[in-house]
Amino acid sequence: MNIMVIGGGGREHAIVHKLAMSPKADKIYALPGNGGIASQAECVNIGATDIEKIVEFAKNNAIDFAVVAPDDPLVLGAVDALNEIGVKCFGPRANAAIIEGSKVFSKNLMKKYNIPTAGYEVFDKSADAISYIEKENKFPVVIKADGLALGKGVVIAQDFAEAKDAVNMIMEDKVFGKSGNNVVVEEFLTGPEVSVLCFTDGKTLVPMVSSMDHKRVGDGDTGPNTGGMGTVAPNPCYTKEIADECMKTIFIPTMDAMNKEGRTFKGCLYFGLMITPNGPKVIEYNCRFGDPETQVVLPLLESDLLEIMMAVEEERLSEVEVKFSDGAAACVVVASKGYPKAYDKGFEVTEKISDADCFVYHAGTSLKDGKVVTSGGRVAGVTARAENLEEALKKAYKATEGFEFENKYMRTDIGQRALAIKNGK
Ligand code: AMP
Ligand code: GLY
Repeated sequence: MNIMVIGGGGREHAIVHKLAMSPKADKIYALPGNGGIASQAECVNIGATDIEKIVEFAKNNAIDFAVVAPDDPLVLGAVDALNEIGVKCFGPRANAAIIEGSKVFSKNLMKKYNIPTAGYEVFDKSADAISYIEKENKFPVVIKADGLALGKGVVIAQDFAEAKDAVNMIMEDKVFGKSGNNVVVEEFLTGPEVSVLCFTDGKTLVPMVSSMDHKRVGDGDTGPNTGGMGTVAPNPCYTKEIADECMKTIFIPTMDAMNKEGRTFKGCLYFGLMITPNGPKVIEYNCRFGDPETQVVLPLLESDLLEIMMAVEEERLSEVEVKFSDGAAACVVVASKGYPKAYDKGFEVTEKISDADCFVYHAGTSLKDGKVVTSGGRVAGVTARAENLEEALKKAYKATEGFEFENKYMRTDIGQRALAIKNGK
């Protein structure tokens, strides 16, 4: 089969790496891919949101199956456009991708179908949002831009002044463009966070192994939010009891709700959950694999990813095996010093890792004159799998020593909170 993967980050590298193991995969293209993906797939210089060019490429290269990985092309209708020319895809159509594309849509969906989430109100005028926040007078309060905002559209405001600034930044200064035409003002929840990615074809839903992200840039969860500085799987907060409850009160009800709305979701549905004192609640939905969650989830998948993805597309997920190993995985993101603010790039990367259970998933790298150089804030996710989390973390950190470039920065405490929870501390 000729396969095309849309996207060019660490998540896409992990997807390509796993797809390449399938006996059915002959040729894999990545659009646009990156400096690391280039060793496993043919990278094609077409941007992930350039849907016209993607469709043309699929037509000209006899593509049999496409995996659309990032949120933007999904929300923009890349799957619809590819389906139209007869290319089968893994990923939701635009009318289902809206579950991530609009927080107003997802909050209203949860309210309508009684799916547990934080209490909220929606506003289309900044003055109304601000006077509501003033009247409620409950802090912290969470302000969210309705649309996609590169993961930066959420502000946790500690007091009224911060909340007012956030509303104005989103709705008046339009920092996220029309994503800020509406805002959601949400109750602040507390508790550990868990990411659960699920395969679903609209009839069956199969959760993957759970994971834990580390969003803040600094050790001890300090500093600004990032796209994710590391992940571990499984997440020790996600017990069997909680998993059962989520399946019953959140996962299946969400799949059913989307069907009832005439928006059947096929692909990877990502549940960002908070385990609150009142039970698990949805913090956010994503219409795709998480990044960097995928970098720890897929290495633990023992089944053939391509078979699963094709089964999802053909609505026969119940017939295929989806098996995960009992082990654990850890991913340490190596970043450019300065990220998520300003940083230098263009430094040559050297990679010397020999452990067969370690994988480096490139994110911000590109090929320049035959050399791999840094081209982004998060440069790569160094991942290891092992029998348990302690070993996986040891191996991953050891492996980071074999991935070098000038200006390298990483957190030194990825997985420490998970270990403490696991060990009952
Ligand atoms: P999001 O971009 O939607 O993933 O949100 C970013 C982060 O903000 C989440 O991972 C949570 O840590 C936090 N967050 C979002 N909504 C809430 C909420 N209602 N209560 C507390 N924290 C939240
Ligand atoms: N790691 C969170 C996300 O992919 O949105």
